[in-house]
Amino acid sequence: MGDERKGSGRVAFDSYNNSELFGVQEAYKAIRTNIILSVIKDDCKKIVITSPLQAEGKSTTSVNIAISLAQAFNKVLFIDCDLRLSKVHKAFGIARDPGITNILSGLATVEESIQATKFENLFVIPAGISAPNPSEMLASPKMQHLISKLEESFDYIIMDTPPINIVSDALPLAKLADGVIVVVRRKISTYTELDKTLKSLKFIEAKVLGLILNDANEERSKKYYNRYGNNGRYNYN
Ligand SMILES: Nc1ncnc2c1ncn2[C@@H]1O[C@H](COP(=O)(O)OP(=O)(O)OP(=O)(O)O)[C@@H](O)[C@H]1O
Ligand SMILES: [Mg+2]
Repeated sequence: MGDERKGSGRVAFDSYNNSELFGVQEAYKAIRTNIILSVIKDDCKKIVITSPLQAEGKSTTSVNIAISLAQAFNKVLFIDCDLRLSKVHKAFGIARDPGITNILSGLATVEESIQATKFENLFVIPAGISAPNPSEMLASPKMQHLISKLEESFDYIIMDTPPINIVSDALPLAKLADGVIVVVRRKISTYTELDKTLKSLKFIEAKVLGLILNDANEERSKKYYNRYGNNGRYNYN
């Protein structure tokens, strides 16, 4: 499958004003709690974030989830598994390589590719140099072996992925993960596309932890808050 996505701006995780930031941080804390309660195991918990289409907020959401988990004193590794249109390294202010493709092709070691961030307990493996075969790389036994090795050193591994309905890259990762979170975005996502994503995930027997509605209407969110005591622009079911 070809990747027809266009570059879609930058990933924002700290560009909100103060009152918005408070609401967003609270929403991510709620998401964090839901993840902690949903994935019960002692060793490393592996979470894949994906969505049906492009620009629905996968990277923004996964970066913020990783930060939120790290702030709760978990040792977190964020892996940029969007090997095609990777942007997340820019958000962290780090280089794109060495990263996943460098490790998988033997051009760099794991130790060289894990980069610290300004957030305590949060480390990143960026996408790495552009490779002609991202799907094959992510589905390879070498990738599985790499994740098994990384599991030994972290409490959580958060994997950001490309859109499932456009390229198949996320599927092998979703299969090996302990849970998958599907992001949908107001005005972009459709029921038809979401249905297609959920069917693909069901087919490979991935465990879907839930959906995150990104960019929810603020006025409707306020009504939601009044009725259900849930605040913020992101709602997690
Ligand atoms: N809730 C939001 N409010 C405002 N801007 C947002 C919100 N969520 C995402 N964005 C912006 O929308 C753009 C796309 O978001 P992001 O890169 O997180 O999506 P994505 O699903 O990872 O995209 P891609 O499919 O290209 O990887 C970015 O510029 C991001 O800053
Ligand atoms: Mg992305």
